[in-house]
This record gives sequence, structure tokens and C-alpha cells, in this order.
Amino acid sequence: MDELRVNLADRSYPIVIGPGLIRHEAVFARGLGNVGGTAALVTSDRIAPLYARTVADTLTRAGTRVIQIVVPDGETAKTWETLNLVHDALLANRCDRKTTIVALGGGVIGDLAGFAAATYQRGVPFIQVPTTLLALVDSSVGGKTAINHPRGKNMIGAFYQPTLVLADTDTLATLPEREYRSGLAEVVKYGFIYDYAFLEWLEVNMDALLVRDVAALARAIYRSCEIKAEIVGQDERETGIRAWLNLGHTFGHAIETGLGYGQWLHGEAVAAGMVTAAELSRLQGHLSAADVARVRRLIERAGLPTVSPRLGQERYFELMRIDKKAEGGAIRYVLLKRLGEAYVAAVPDEQVVPALDAAYADAA
Ligand SMILES: NC(=O)c1ccc[n+]([C@@H]2O[C@H](COP(=O)([O-])OP(=O)(O)OC[C@H]3O[C@@H](n4cnc5c(N)ncnc54)[C@H](O)[C@@H]3O)[C@@H](O)[C@H]2O)c1
Ligand SMILES: [Zn+2]
Repeated sequence: MDELRVNLADRSYPIVIGPGLIRHEAVFARGLGNVGGTAALVTSDRIAPLYARTVADTLTRAGTRVIQIVVPDGETAKTWETLNLVHDALLANRCDRKTTIVALGGGVIGDLAGFAAATYQRGVPFIQVPTTLLALVDSSVGGKTAINHPRGKNMIGAFYQPTLVLADTDTLATLPEREYRSGLAEVVKYGFIYDYAFLEWLEVNMDALLVRDVAALARAIYRSCEIKAEIVGQDERETGIRAWLNLGHTFGHAIETGLGYGQWLHGEAVAAGMVTAAELSRLQGHLSAADVARVRRLIERAGLPTVSPRLGQERYFELMRIDKKAEGGAIRYVLLKRLGEAYVAAVPDEQVVPALDAAYADAA
């Protein structure tokens, strides 16, 4: 069992990582607002049959009354309507301000249940129990919670930190291949933006990661969480370095929203977006063509798309301007100064056009 800490003064919390953790009541107890109180287990109809029973039993052993709130699965359900279902159930079960919300699932459940926790009775404690690779390495850490609006991803939300991240690596055993690869996009992202040595390690170990080699996976998860915790500890509200975590996301969110939520998985869209961002970094005079080729190659080896869908330039710019990284109309991009270090810059549209052209140059 490994442990990391997100340091945010009185909102600091542990990230506990290891196999079999969903059976450890003592670990859960560390995040409960009130032992002897209520735990509201929020999960989706796809995850519930796999893990809800085990988690509910463990929470019971930890001394809580457990209620289960099962919502529809997937990105298309990350909506106001689903949020309402959670609030309805909390009220119907007379949950008070010490109720702990336990988010069991991937990034969708984590973001949704986290936002429910942030808003229910002005905020109740919540525990993240990530079950996808993406959630284990990224979304469960850092306190960004949100739901989607038809006009844009994650447009309604709050910064709200969990009291505990309980990351049981055994849950990945049931994760479908496409979802697993989608999570690898956020893993390689950390190498590109922050840690050249990790990037080199990923280049050596990508084949092991693809077959879910236990040791390689443990190292990748640990280093990813460590980097995320370090960045969030420095810049919780994203006034500076935290924005680096959005490498590929400005293009990626445009792809997700433009094609309709759920068509491309988040990590797939981010993967293609990172290739475009790398290309734009080259056009801005930073990366070499060989660097861009390395970015593309690693993403390709992770089984992720490197070519963006043809939404049309106008549509891309329209969608990217709505994305929250746009400030006062100028779109701010996360780019790479070199492999292992990012920066943020507003780039005029006409300079972005050739990067977008390159992004689907190979498309059929
Ligand atoms: N808050 C953040 O900082 C942050 C960061 C990155 C991404 N996100 C958000 O995360 C979301 C994507 O998360 P995701 O990729 O985890 O998708 P997801 O939550 O939709 O999960 C993917 C699918 O896998 C299923 N699943 C989950 N765990 C499983 C398991 N162990 N076994 C079998 N099936 C399982 C789910 O039911 C779902 O169908 C996006 O909405 C994105 O915006 C948030
Ligand atoms: Zn992401």
C-alpha cells in the first residue's frame, strides 16, 4: 500500500494506492466525516454490479449506515438531471451535513458525485474511489468537480476537495480495453508537461503498461498521482501551473463536444489534442519535428488516436472559444516549451490554423 498527500493546508488529504483497498474499512474510516453516521455511495448502473456490494459492506464494517445511489452510466449522464437524482436521494434518505458521499467509479461519477458533495447542504465530506485508469491517475485527485452543459464540457462545477482518495488498483482488472487506453492519455500527458525522465520511462515501458503489468502499472499510477498532487498543491485554483494539466484539452474538449459526448472517449480526444498541441508548439518555435514525432509515436503506441476528426476550422474555433480556458475571447493554449515542460500562451487564430490542418492531414 502506497500513500501520497495533497497539501492544501486544512483541506489536505491522503491518496492511498494499492490492491484490494476497497475491502479495508480502516482506510475508508480516514475519510469519513462522521463514523457512526451515513455514507451515501454514489455509483453508476454499470459499476454497481461489479463493486457496490463490496464497498457497501466495507463501509458498514467501518460503522456507517450506507445508502446507495445508482445513476445512469457514462458521459451523457454527466448532467443537471443526474445531479438532481443524487440530491433527491440524499434528501429522501434524510442525509445530514455530516453524511459522507462516496464516489465509486470513473471520472464521470467522481466529477458528478463530487459536485453533488460540494453543493448538498453547502458541502459534505466526500471520498473518491476511482475505478478507471483515468480516474486513478487524474480526475480523483485535485478537487475539480463538474457536470456538462449542452454548450460545453464541465461548464457547471466547483473546486471541492475530497477527504480521501482510495485507489484500489485491482478494480482495473474489469476495465474494458478502450477505457484503459483512454486513461493512458493522461499518464503520458504527465511526461510531456512535467517530467522528461518519466516520459523516457514510458517509452521503455509502454508495452508492459498495455498488458497491465502490475509493477509497471503501479509505478505509472504512483508517479502520475505524485505529479498531480504536486501541481495541485502549488496551484489549487489554476491561476498558473495547474493549467499545464490541460495539455491537449482545449482541442480535445472541442472534439468531445463537437462530435457529441461519448462518441470519442475523453482520453482519446485529449490524445489527438496533444498531437495538435505538439504541432502548434513546433510552429511556435519550440519543439523540433523529431520531438513532435516522439509525442505522436508514444500516443500511437498507447493505441490512441493521433488524427483529429474533421469538424471544420470554424467549428473548432467556435467550440474552443466557449471552452473555459478562453479569457475574453483570446484562446489560451497549453503548449510545450520542450518535452517535459509546458507553458501557456494566447495564440492568434491564424497561427493555429496550420496546426489544425496538420491535425487531420492524415485523415481519410
Ligand atoms: N476532475 C478532473 O480533474 C478530471 C480530470 C480528467 C477527466 N475528468 C473527467 O473524467 C471523465 C472521464 O472519466 P473516465 O474516462 O473514467 O470515464 P467514465 O467515468 O465514463 O468511465 C468509463 C466507463 O468505464 C466504466 N467503468 C468504470 N470503472 C470500471 C471498472 N473498474 N470495470 C469496468 N467498467 C468500469 C464506467 O461505467 C464507464 O462506462 C470526463 O467527464 C472528464 O471530463 C475530470
Ligand atoms: Zn483530462
